[in-house]
Amino acid sequence: MNILLIGSGGREHTLAWKLKQSPKLTKLYISPGNAGTASLGSNVAIDWKNFDTFKAFLLEQKIDMLVVGPEDPLVAGLHDTIASDAETKHIAVIGPKKQAAQLEGSKDFSKKFMLKYGIPTANYKSFTKETLDEGFKFLEDIKSPYVLKADGLAAGKGVVILDHLDEAITEFESMLKDEKFGAASKTVLVEEFLSGIECSVFVLTDGISYKILPEAKDYKRIGEGDTGLNTGGMGSVSPVSFADEVFMKKVESRIIEPTLNGLKNEKIDFTGFIFFGLIKVNGNPYVIEYNVRMGDPETESVIPRLETDLLELFIAAADKKLSTKKVLFSTKTTASIMLVSGGYPENYEKGKIIKGLDLVEDCLVFHAGTKENERGEIITNGGRVLALTAFGETKEEALAKAYLEANKIKFEGKYYRTDIGFDL
Ligand code: AMP
Ligand code: GLY
Repeated sequence: MNILLIGSGGREHTLAWKLKQSPKLTKLYISPGNAGTASLGSNVAIDWKNFDTFKAFLLEQKIDMLVVGPEDPLVAGLHDTIASDAETKHIAVIGPKKQAAQLEGSKDFSKKFMLKYGIPTANYKSFTKETLDEGFKFLEDIKSPYVLKADGLAAGKGVVILDHLDEAITEFESMLKDEKFGAASKTVLVEEFLSGIECSVFVLTDGISYKILPEAKDYKRIGEGDTGLNTGGMGSVSPVSFADEVFMKKVESRIIEPTLNGLKNEKIDFTGFIFFGLIKVNGNPYVIEYNVRMGDPETESVIPRLETDLLELFIAAADKKLSTKKVLFSTKTTASIMLVSGGYPENYEKGKIIKGLDLVEDCLVFHAGTKENERGEIITNGGRVLALTAFGETKEEALAKAYLEANKIKFEGKYYRTDIGFDL
């Protein structure tokens, strides 16, 4: 089977690494990929936004399956375009069509969906420029902290949580009136603040049945103890101790099943991953957000625990036969540490030579922002540079191994959090 995987981060390197282990794989292409994916398949620079050249590539390389790592192509409707073109419609796509991708692409859509199907989530109201005054009034009536969310995709920056009413009013106005997040903030949600501990749960579904993957916790803030600016993610751990059997049963019956049933009821097909961003409040799970793809950096700790052939699962999902598959996981713990560029998530420099990759033992190295230069050296090419994933009998053992290896890798400005898993 020939596969094209879209994306360039640690998530995609991890997916590529897992797919590469399948005897069913013939050729693997990654677009655009990174220096890590280049060792597992062919990196190609083809723009999915230009369907003519994209289609030509799919046909020339006889691609059988497209695996979409990030959300943008899905929200933009790439799956729909492929499925509606006579020459490409035979290609399996892992990742939902546009309508289902609204679960991530529009927070207003996903909230309405949750409300309709009784899926626990924070109370909210949505507003537009036309209802600005009602929004002010609503903010005055509710308690701090104030959770403001741009409806659309805003590169992970569209959620703002503020303690003071005057700040909330100013931010709310700037999101709506000045379109601070562009079209994404034409509609803004004001949400009840939920206080609890978060974790990420993933399922692979064919729209009929589903398989729950190991849960994970990611660490989003740049600073130790979850302080400072939000990042794409500084590390992850799987499993998550507080997501015990009782909690996970509730997640399945109150969240996963009603979500899948809701999609069926709406006649919305879904092939791919659903990522449930959850928060545990008084022992009960609430949905913070849906994503229609795997998480990054959660993939780097979740997928290594998967013992089943991922490509077989993808094929079964595309054929709507997922119910016939068994999925096995390692009972070990994985910890993944993200090495980032100095200055990230604000300004940082690229092009720093990465040394010590050959010294890493007993640890998986997943590349995120890396590339190879003309001299064949691996250099930094993004804020998040490398994820190091280690296995352990315990979380402590996995973390100790990952940190030992993190020390061996050198590049100018290297930074990482030393407290991943601190709250578990
Ligand atoms: P989102 O992009 O929706 O995942 O939101 C980003 C982050 O904001 C989440 O991971 C939470 O930490 C936080 N957050 C979002 N909504 C709420 C809420 N209703 N209550 C508390 N925290 C929230
Ligand atoms: N780790 C959160 C995300 O991928 O959106």
